[in-house]
Amino acid sequence: MLIGTRVRGALLLAPVMLLAAGPQTLRDAAPAGVLVGTAVRPSMFSEAAYSETLAREFSMVEPEDAMKWWVVRREPGTFDFRAGDEVVHFAQAHGMKVRGHCLVWDHNLPAWLAQGQFTPEQLSTLLHEHITTEVKHYAGQVFAWDVVNEALDQNGHVKDSPWYNQPGIGLAAKGTAYVEQAFRWAHEADPQALLFYNEVEGEGMNTKSDAVYAMVKDFKKRGVPIDGVGLQLHISRLDFDTAAVAANIARLARLGIQIHITELDVSLPVDSSGVGTAEDLRRQSDVYRGIVHACLQSPGCTAIQTWGFTDKYSWISSHSHGTRGAALPFDRAYKPKPAYDAILEELSRKTNHPRQTSK
Ligand code: XIL
Repeated sequence: MLIGTRVRGALLLAPVMLLAAGPQTLRDAAPAGVLVGTAVRPSMFSEAAYSETLAREFSMVEPEDAMKWWVVRREPGTFDFRAGDEVVHFAQAHGMKVRGHCLVWDHNLPAWLAQGQFTPEQLSTLLHEHITTEVKHYAGQVFAWDVVNEALDQNGHVKDSPWYNQPGIGLAAKGTAYVEQAFRWAHEADPQALLFYNEVEGEGMNTKSDAVYAMVKDFKKRGVPIDGVGLQLHISRLDFDTAAVAANIARLARLGIQIHITELDVSLPVDSSGVGTAEDLRRQSDVYRGIVHACLQSPGCTAIQTWGFTDKYSWISSHSHGTRGAALPFDRAYKPKPAYDAILEELSRKTNHPRQTSK
């Protein structure tokens, strides 16, 4: 019967067309076990285009600032989790995971702490209390934490920091002992959370990434509870060597840890309206493609996260005093850029393998 044939034909055709078109969003395109995340500002959730794009494209969020000391600990002696809780609620409503950032860093501290005159004993008590209270507050909601952020300098030495040696928590001149202590406190507070060390400019093969590797190797050998390394990847060069990132991911994965790309953005010189040239946008898409490829080559790499998603809200502009920008996969009007297409294409490759991520 003619009608029957037509109906059957249409039914048969529909799934074939879906397959040919491929996944239409980043979160759907990613292989099983690879999260696609972005840093978020909860104050923007009320903007429809912001929250629609976020919910549609991403399977993980991380508060850009909302879980840092300067937001949570604005006043001494109190904890303010309202902004961080908003991120958790948004994620729960849209089936996303939450990455927590960050418990120990020498930046983004409230003035009362940064300028306070504390003894090592007092700082140790403060940090222990902070890690315990925040990690317990988000237990079962935040699946992974950046426990320590940027502890090393470019020579691979432990950086000066209120937590290390100014005056520190009592472990000054003992190298990575303060980092270890923070991981032990975080693990006590939530044994289920994945605990990460997050670092900047130690993503390829260099002195800093050698030092991160050595620290993690030592921690693993001695049973310090570390589960992963975060590679920030704030990139400002269009000739960035993404193969070196793949090599670093491969060696870190051999230590039996997970690797997350945590703060990826690729900034460009911009004109006065914040726009980059077409040629730069094309080269930018190659860098994004290279990083996604580097991650997907290793079964240890389980998350790819950008530091924001729309050029409308990116930290690069204020960080570079307006000279750079256009660093993210969506433009200021939430239109996907060539970088978005490159990420989607790399994530969609049939050769990508699923991976195991549970603890
Ligand atoms: C940045 C935020 O994006 C800004 O909103 C804030 O003013 C400063 O911090 N490395 C990190 C992030 O680990 O926490 C930083 O985030 C960017 C550099």
